[in-house]
Amino acid sequence: MRLSHCHNFQDFRTLAKKRLPGPIFNYIDGGSDDESTYRRNTTAFESCDLVPNVLTGVKDIDLSVTVMGQKLDMPVYCSPTALQRLFHHQGERAVAAAAEKYGTMFGVSSFGTVSVEEIAKQVKTPQVYQFYFHKDRGLNRAMMERAKASGIQVMMLTVDSITGGNRERDLRTGFSIPFRLTLGGMLQFAIKPMWGINYLTHEKFSLPQLDEHIDMDGSATSIGEYFTNMLDPSMNWDDVAEMIKFWDGEFCLKGIMSREDARRAVDIGCTGIVISNHGGRQLDGSRSSFDQLAEIVDEVGDEVDVILDSGVQRGTHVLKALSMGAKAVGVGRMYLYPLAAAGQPGVERALGLMRSELERDMKLMGKTSVDQLSRANLRFR
Ligand code: FNR
Ligand code: LAC
Repeated sequence: MRLSHCHNFQDFRTLAKKRLPGPIFNYIDGGSDDESTYRRNTTAFESCDLVPNVLTGVKDIDLSVTVMGQKLDMPVYCSPTALQRLFHHQGERAVAAAAEKYGTMFGVSSFGTVSVEEIAKQVKTPQVYQFYFHKDRGLNRAMMERAKASGIQVMMLTVDSITGGNRERDLRTGFSIPFRLTLGGMLQFAIKPMWGINYLTHEKFSLPQLDEHIDMDGSATSIGEYFTNMLDPSMNWDDVAEMIKFWDGEFCLKGIMSREDARRAVDIGCTGIVISNHGGRQLDGSRSSFDQLAEIVDEVGDEVDVILDSGVQRGTHVLKALSMGAKAVGVGRMYLYPLAAAGQPGVERALGLMRSELERDMKLMGKTSVDQLSRANLRFR
């Protein structure tokens, strides 16, 4: 299979699986425990149907939205994800360039493999800084100062990872950071030689958001152990309120799932919330983002921008979320498989296909701009 033969999420996933060593593919592809939330995230969109209108005149479609003060050409952005240079040597650089080409936002993770400063210089498109709250308060302060100094527009604090999710695929494969070619993993890598050559002939693996503070030459640790050992389990609403004051700009919490927490986020000064279960990678058995969307929009939708991620694979998923009241939708694996499959051209193809789907689906819905979508266009079964 080639890139030009990839027409949807599953096609990119198949190609990524072919290219990537098993442990890396499974890190991206996996969820926690029985992966029930991971599966439900996407099937939740099938619990309701779109009801189109016709004969409305749909020659020109405007997909633009404004979210957290950022004008985006389309309502889908690349949610921050860790370790992108492991997936393809272009990593974050490819994702940022592709997002810019499609006029949308992207995030760089605290666990990003290219520095926020470099990416901020590379592109003009809005950039999110994904923050993990560490035990080391000095590190937290330094991370925010760096983000501010580099001109980042939006701060996104992830709040659903207070401890590591139980990712059993990673336990089986031994996936860990800093990433090393261990003897046990060698066989896996030997059967994907192109990935291995690419990995070894490009710059050394590093986590530039953290490596001034963390000894990357120390022993390898799993993502779960890192969360548990390095992130601050005592983080609470007061800590976040302080962060918001210090940041003094667009600030959202990623991983809000309940109406009460959404209300509290508004009360302490967030300008947005991201309904997310981390792509089913943290609390398995938790509800899907789409299933929680309506009640959270009803609670705070008039006061802040409600954003959703987890499970989005199709243009119609996006239209359902927007009809329900989300302002924009984040995607993770939808651009990560394309990145792994083909680098920047892969991510561009995925975003291009998403834009085409959105345009086509808007026409078929009889809508010319995103603000015309409403719950009147949805029916639950
Ligand atoms: C993530 N996600 C994530 N979130 C975050 O806040 N910081 C991070 O470093 C990462 N890293 C990460 C790595 C990988 C491989 C995946 C798949 C996901 C979660 C991500 O931002 C987003 O919430 C989910 O990916 C959304 O679900 P879908 O679109 O993948 O179903
Ligand atoms: C993950 C982290 C890094 O989901 O957010 O793997």
